Amino acid sequence: MNNFTYYNPVRIVFGRGSIAQLQQLVPTNPKILLVYGGGSIKHNGVYEQVQAALNDHDVIEFAGIEPNPLYETCIKAADLVKQEGVGFLLAVGGGSVMDATKFIAAAAAYTGADPWDMVLKKAPVTDALPLGCVVTLPATGSETNINAVISRASTAEKIPFKSPLLYPQFSILDPDTTFSLPQRQLANGIVDTFVHVCEQYLTYDVHAHLQDRQAEAILLTLIQEAPKLFGPDDDYDVRANLMWCATQALNHNLACGVPMDWSTHAIGHELTAACGIDHARALAIVMPALLDHQRVPKADKLLKFAHRIWGITCTDTNAAIDTALQCTRKFFQDLGMPTRLSDAHIPSTVIAKIANRLGQRCPHIGEHQNLDTKAIRAILEATI
Ligand code: NZQ
Ligand code: ZN
Repeated sequence: MNNFTYYNPVRIVFGRGSIAQLQQLVPTNPKILLVYGGGSIKHNGVYEQVQAALNDHDVIEFAGIEPNPLYETCIKAADLVKQEGVGFLLAVGGGSVMDATKFIAAAAAYTGADPWDMVLKKAPVTDALPLGCVVTLPATGSETNINAVISRASTAEKIPFKSPLLYPQFSILDPDTTFSLPQRQLANGIVDTFVHVCEQYLTYDVHAHLQDRQAEAILLTLIQEAPKLFGPDDDYDVRANLMWCATQALNHNLACGVPMDWSTHAIGHELTAACGIDHARALAIVMPALLDHQRVPKADKLLKFAHRIWGITCTDTNAAIDTALQCTRKFFQDLGMPTRLSDAHIPSTVIAKIANRLGQRCPHIGEHQNLDTKAIRAILEATI
């Protein structure tokens, strides 16, 4: 097992009715900026619950954060924070709203020339306003991690950035908020969670047995619970299990002491930047092809995945990996996901553009740093 430091200060408040606890969790003195998206919270009762809990607080709002949040929008919010002397940010929404709020928190406190430098040039985040989250879409784990992914419309880029200063002070997870989610977003959340686990699990073996079992527990729970969402067994506990899986998948816990491979995400972000495809749908296309391409260096873990997740007992390595990848694709397809570019009506002409662009910015990705422009191109060509 590799050396590691683990630190996660996020207070999680989980369960039915927990939005009311904002009253105690949000500090009373500073002015609060409530950040939200395109209005779903106004149709499912979440906005009213937040308003009721913050009745005694001084709250202003910034609405209109878009899916795959834009730098151009976040900068307007950061200006508002400075003009109004806001001292605390409250994100209410999915990963896009939480990520945008993290960028706003850092941008409003940034003393350099251009806050985009924190994203593109990895200029250090030196300060950030405190923030809290109310999660309405279980998927990204943004509520308990230091990451955010920001897009820039003017350059059609989508790039992650991170800082320990961006840990939320608290996150509220009420599974009841998920009942208004369209099936497409529920499916997105399951696949995003599944891929987050795989990218911390499917690398090479470092004898981190507990972490492997923790990853497998999440994958098996997703496979068990996901089908219930679309039938008579759907209920609060299904939502609660899926919500907790999403948080556990990317709170840095699975990452302890193991190698990681975030190349599916790196390629997926480029696909979204180029074509506007939903984050998780891009991952569903890329990951099976990437695992296939990397079946030799990942063979030990792919076999473990085949045996322990999909119950494959076949002793031939290649045949077991083939079947595991077929099972993975079928799981995604049963959720309505595309697993090929053509399923998502994406022309193969984007492949060269994506591979060149990512290859230039990050010349070597993957746990062995062995994926270059040519490899990225080959992976995407296998998805046509
Ligand atoms: O904008 P509103 O009106 O809120 O509608 C949203 C949006 O249209 C809607 N929605 C959210 N909660 C709802 C709801 N509709 C009905 N009922 C509810 N309860 O769902 C749509 C999608 O929301 P979005 O926040 O974009 O989805 P998601 O949570 O999947 O977030 C995706 C973003 O997170 C980034 C992705 O790249 C993408 O930009 N990620 C962030 C990560 C992180 N911070 O660690 C890791 C992930 O890998 C990911 O990259
Ligand atoms: Zn993701």
